[in-house]
Amino acid sequence: MRHLMSPLDFSVEELDKLFMLADDIEHNPAKYAHACAGKKLATCFYEPSTRTRLSFESAMLNLGGNILGFSDAGSSSAAKGESVSDTIRMISCYADICAMRHPKEGAPMVAATKSSIPVINAGDGGHQHPTQTLTDLLTIRAIKGRLNNFTIGLCGDLKFGRTVHSLINALVRYDNINFVFISPDELKIPEYIIEMLREKSIPYREVTALEDVMSELDILYMTRVQRERFFNEEDYVRLKDFYILNKEKMELAKDDMIVLHPLPRVNEISVEVDDDPRAVYFRQVQYGVYVRMALLLTLLEIKVDY
Ligand code: NCD
Repeated sequence: MRHLMSPLDFSVEELDKLFMLADDIEHNPAKYAHACAGKKLATCFYEPSTRTRLSFESAMLNLGGNILGFSDAGSSSAAKGESVSDTIRMISCYADICAMRHPKEGAPMVAATKSSIPVINAGDGGHQHPTQTLTDLLTIRAIKGRLNNFTIGLCGDLKFGRTVHSLINALVRYDNINFVFISPDELKIPEYIIEMLREKSIPYREVTALEDVMSELDILYMTRVQRERFFNEEDYVRLKDFYILNKEKMELAKDDMIVLHPLPRVNEISVEVDDDPRAVYFRQVQYGVYVRMALLLTLLEIKVDY
């Protein structure tokens, strides 16, 4: 039985297979409409989410399966003091696979050790968010046609942003990727990631101004400043509007640059950018459903010929 805790749990070859399956799902949805008939997905979300939870649920429903779960810790037995380990043992009796989001780093991993069904980490604190990374990779692959040879700028909250941490981890396995980290000093990328890049001799730069690097980027990955991870409101208020991507800044960018964002967006991308064909964050949401469908089939070991 396999779980998904980090994007590195899959080899590059396995990821390729997963993306090919997601491609086939996109183009032949009817073939998969009953693939998970009789299967149940439990979504155990101890932290608010709209996109990720609904994306998982939509993925399972598209496959003809069923869903159950809870969407905040307050309405689950966690409020009564139940441990994640006990909860997953119980969920294992109710469902065939579980997607878990938790504010504590490592909680889905603890659950996986006690689970008799596959557990998917749907985001653990500021740590990892592997299914967002699968979504990001599939989007880049589908739109750019490759997962190598590009310069990617990651902008915003690089300190707490788990989507950023997961994506960097995954991208370092592909050739010739240049990283540009764009953040205020207070929200810089964690040192352990910088060390990992240095060890692997992967080129990176850290800058503060988005305008200075815009023209070099093939991909711009915007992120929100995450209010819930700040210890005090003052710091949040000071930093929340540090970056606002608008039409003027988009004019500095290459014609084929693409803008990704894991969403939710707050102020960091002005709505006027939404109509720019290079803004692909809503298409990214759709790719998220395809890749989660592919993931559910893979972890449940359900084969559909394609
Ligand atoms: C991200 C998350 O939860 O980490 N959202 C998502 O899953 N699509 C990013 C965020 O909340 O800012």
